[in-house]
Amino acid sequence: MPTPEDVEKVRAAIQLKDESDRAKEKRWMTEQGRTHRTIVEIGSEWGDSTRAIATENSGIVYAVDLWADDMSWDNTGRYSRGGMVIGHRLEQFKNYVQGCNIEPMQMTSLEAAAIFAAKGVKFDMVFIDASHDYASVKEDILAWRPLLVEGGLLSGHDYTSWAGVKKAVDELVPEFTLPAASIWATTV
Ligand SMILES: C[S@@+](CC[C@H](N)C(=O)[O-])C[C@H]1O[C@@H](n2cnc3c(N)ncnc32)[C@H](O)[C@@H]1O
Repeated sequence: MPTPEDVEKVRAAIQLKDESDRAKEKRWMTEQGRTHRTIVEIGSEWGDSTRAIATENSGIVYAVDLWADDMSWDNTGRYSRGGMVIGHRLEQFKNYVQGCNIEPMQMTSLEAAAIFAAKGVKFDMVFIDASHDYASVKEDILAWRPLLVEGGLLSGHDYTSWAGVKKAVDELVPEFTLPAASIWATTV
């Protein structure tokens, strides 16, 4: 006769198998948000991942993004100004994450990293999901990895979908794992 714990385990396994990749990623984000306190996300857009990370977080999640109204990405994954104007991005973000303890920082990834470095702030978790071209992901990893506490979680999105992300992560974080769909992660 299976115990209630056995039944629960089977149910959880079935749920995981049936979930979409995005649902798996968001479950992982929420779990990491719950188990890490001081977190920074680089590239938040309208807040889908930010909210998943922050929803059970008991500390603070800093969200870094330009939220520029005319931002778009090219076919390498690099974001730049001068694309189609999609207005009110920061307002959309703020509305979507209402109720969570999130501090938006409207600036570039490297500007934000320099501010935290100057203040001596350290993070329990970094999640990188800004520009996806090789040079940008490399810059982001190099800028943010030193801002993690020992044992902190370095992670990011789109390893399996963007060549630039894969190349930078393979080169700079060779010990990474893929804990959920397209998310790469390692403990430093
Ligand atoms: C792929 S989207 C983020 C998606 C979001 N993490 C999610 O999963 O819901 C990338 C975002 O990164 C921002 N971004 C790109 N390059 C950036 C940079 N150098 N500094 C700050 N933000 C940047 C863009 O404005 C865009 O909103």
